[in-house]
Amino acid sequence: MAQSFDVVVVGAGPGGYVCAIRSAQLGLKTAIIEREYMGGVCLNVGCIPSKALISAGHFLHKMEHNAAEMGFTIPGKVKLDMAQLQKWKQSVCERMAGGVEQLLKGNAVTIIRGEASFKSAQEISVKTKAGAVESITAKNFVIATGSRPIEIPGFAFDEQLVLSSTGALAQSEKLESAVVIGGGYIGLEIGSVLSNFGTKVTVVEANKALLAGLADPECVQVVARKLKKNGVDVLLDAKAKGWKKSGKGVEVTVDIGGKEQVLKADKVLVTVGRKPNSDQANLKGIGLAIDEKGFVKVNAQRKTNLPGVYAIGDIACQPMLAHKASHEGVMVAEIIAGQKRAYEVKTVPSVIFVDPEIAAAGMTEDEARAKGYTDLKIGKFPFAANGRAVSLMETDGFVKIIADAKTHIVLGVHIVGPEASNLISEAALAIEMGARLEDLALTIHPHPTLGETMMEAAEATLGHAIHIIQKPLTGAGKGTTPRAHA
Ligand code: FAD
Ligand code: NAI
Repeated sequence: MAQSFDVVVVGAGPGGYVCAIRSAQLGLKTAIIEREYMGGVCLNVGCIPSKALISAGHFLHKMEHNAAEMGFTIPGKVKLDMAQLQKWKQSVCERMAGGVEQLLKGNAVTIIRGEASFKSAQEISVKTKAGAVESITAKNFVIATGSRPIEIPGFAFDEQLVLSSTGALAQSEKLESAVVIGGGYIGLEIGSVLSNFGTKVTVVEANKALLAGLADPECVQVVARKLKKNGVDVLLDAKAKGWKKSGKGVEVTVDIGGKEQVLKADKVLVTVGRKPNSDQANLKGIGLAIDEKGFVKVNAQRKTNLPGVYAIGDIACQPMLAHKASHEGVMVAEIIAGQKRAYEVKTVPSVIFVDPEIAAAGMTEDEARAKGYTDLKIGKFPFAANGRAVSLMETDGFVKIIADAKTHIVLGVHIVGPEASNLISEAALAIEMGARLEDLALTIHPHPTLGETMMEAAEATLGHAIHIIQKPLTGAGKGTTPRAHA
């Protein structure tokens, strides 16, 4: 007989597992179906393993480049045991994935391990690992089946020589050289890690700039300079045409502005984006509406065209980010439980974990102008003028604030620098709350912290940061708001 639930969530990534927990918290009889791993891409082959390796790379870089100046003597060269690094990385993932399973169980969510396929909008079949097929009905289904890496013609993933992000994160031997196709989020994050571990990295990017359309161009410049300094070669306006085996490695043919170049390397990593898994689980077969990019069509409540069927996370829409998936997960559970909710966020903050980190919340200058904000106030404060950054020996970068000149409402914050990932949440809160520059400038920030850069960037935007020389004001307070007036 078919098992029956109030809510069945398909996929246990950061969208699905969060949705299932919230749904159970709200008293709904909930099940979650997962075919591979608890925590999805994020905890197993995405955010967490990549950040574990990035932390290790950062640590190594500091030992190699900063330790001596601080007075440490490291006899000989620091040795990296890649197999041990993988073991540690895996332990981090397993700890996190195990935690998700415990949370699901602790909230009385029924966990079903297997591959789900929709029979109708009210029923799915699940092929369990043991080969049995179970039938499950539910009043509400939440599709949270995520995405997978895009393959480009001629570069089918074999995870031996042609790697996706999953293969690249699992390398237990040091690569001498690697070609990375795609200078976006993954290409630059993993490319930087490999470079820190001593791999000669060449990035092949089809656009005329790295991270084009993904980050503030001024922030990208800082990272591009650092990549160069660290020995990463970047080929722009370049398209990979094909590859062949050469000895134990590869030869990749690249077209750079009409000229062919052959790059030799141990392996090639293809990171040209991800596509939603909407061609699976018989989603099309039950008549689910899917857009031309493969995303399940959803409204602001993440309802699909089929009653009682919701879609969240990477399968639903951009941005493909874990925190956006989780936000939607909580929201959909609350909607199913009868609460009035809709996806009405002003910003989904983003972080690119490169060196230094890039983080953003809200609009870029171009986006603000396109939205009709013609009169903008833009200010920057450099990490080089912040005591904590100097003591960390991480002074590259700045905090940039974009505000409406008339109201001083903060429209966008773009950070490139140390701990940008942690600093950006304050900016996201400011934007969600409609804060003005004065709110940031007049909030006391503890000293000495990187967070002071946010306060000083707000002051700089108002024209009177303390720790940088700004253009002398002509006339008392011209172009600024008096400090004591909030
Ligand atoms: P997923 O995490 O993809 O989970 C979907 C789950 O559904 C999977 O576990 C899958 O096995 C399961 N599933 C699919 N089909 C079925 C089926 N038919 N039956 C049963 N189960 C099924 N985002 C960030 O915000 N920050 C980062 O730092 C970051 N780093 C990343 C690094 C890398 C290398 C990659 C690849 C991605 C990274 N991302 C990051 C993106 C992030 O991982 C995704 O946005 C996020 O995982 C999406 O969550 P989701 O719940 O939609 O889907
Ligand atoms: P991406 O969209 O970030 O970048 C892909 C890059 O590849 C682009 O710069 C594009 O111009 C380039 N490209 C496309 N086709 C090409 C070709 N044929 N030759 C050369 N270059 C080509 O995609 P990526 O890096 O695969 O990441 C996928 C998604 O995963 C991200 O967009 C993001 O949503 C998520 N992610 C988030 C992270 C984070 O939050 N820190 C980290 C990693 C991934």
